[in-house]
Amino acid sequence: MKKRVAILISGRGSNMTALINSMTGDHPARPCVVISTTPKVQGLRNALERNTPTVTLNCGEYDRASESFERDLDIQLKRANAELICLAGFMRILSADFVGKWQGRILNIHPSLLPKFKGLNTHARVLAAGETVHGCTVHQVTAKLDDGPILGQLKLTVHKHDTAVTLADRVLKLEHVLYPVVLRHFIAGDLNQAALN
Ligand code: GAR
Repeated sequence: MKKRVAILISGRGSNMTALINSMTGDHPARPCVVISTTPKVQGLRNALERNTPTVTLNCGEYDRASESFERDLDIQLKRANAELICLAGFMRILSADFVGKWQGRILNIHPSLLPKFKGLNTHARVLAAGETVHGCTVHQVTAKLDDGPILGQLKLTVHKHDTAVTLADRVLKLEHVLYPVVLRHFIAGDLNQAALN
């Protein structure tokens, strides 16, 4: 039986696309649903083109308290018989309660070398801090933001002429390599850090 993977997005969904594209052939998993917090985003179109069912839970229609949003999210995940959740540019913070229910079954990709630069605007902050090495991380999600056990990282050298835009672009290309590799390792029960560079 293939593992059923739900992918949660909020926008463009390029990491989602890389994950869906990877789950073919002898891959031990298949995407079962893509859930977006934003209507009509590119990621939803890309998922449908790849015959993956989609659901929109429009954050704008929920109040800031997470209860009703997460109740609906849980309903959709159960309806799709999801066994594992991949956050892929998902820009809503999940509560400790929700994460507890899915303990050990949520992965996230973050555009920095965690534990450095948790949170938003990582590329600009990397430049402001004068870092010479940057990259991306896939980790397990715990109740603390961007803090769970690290499953893999890919690094790059920050060049003198890099801007936040060029860094975002260069890091994103690494993300598309890293996330599929880590997902495959994780499903195989390998929780060691994927050594890719
Ligand atoms: C990616 O760079 C991802 O690492 C980042 O958002 C972008 C989504 O791009 N995620 C976060 O910042 C999460 N805190 P995508 O929608 O094209 O995959």
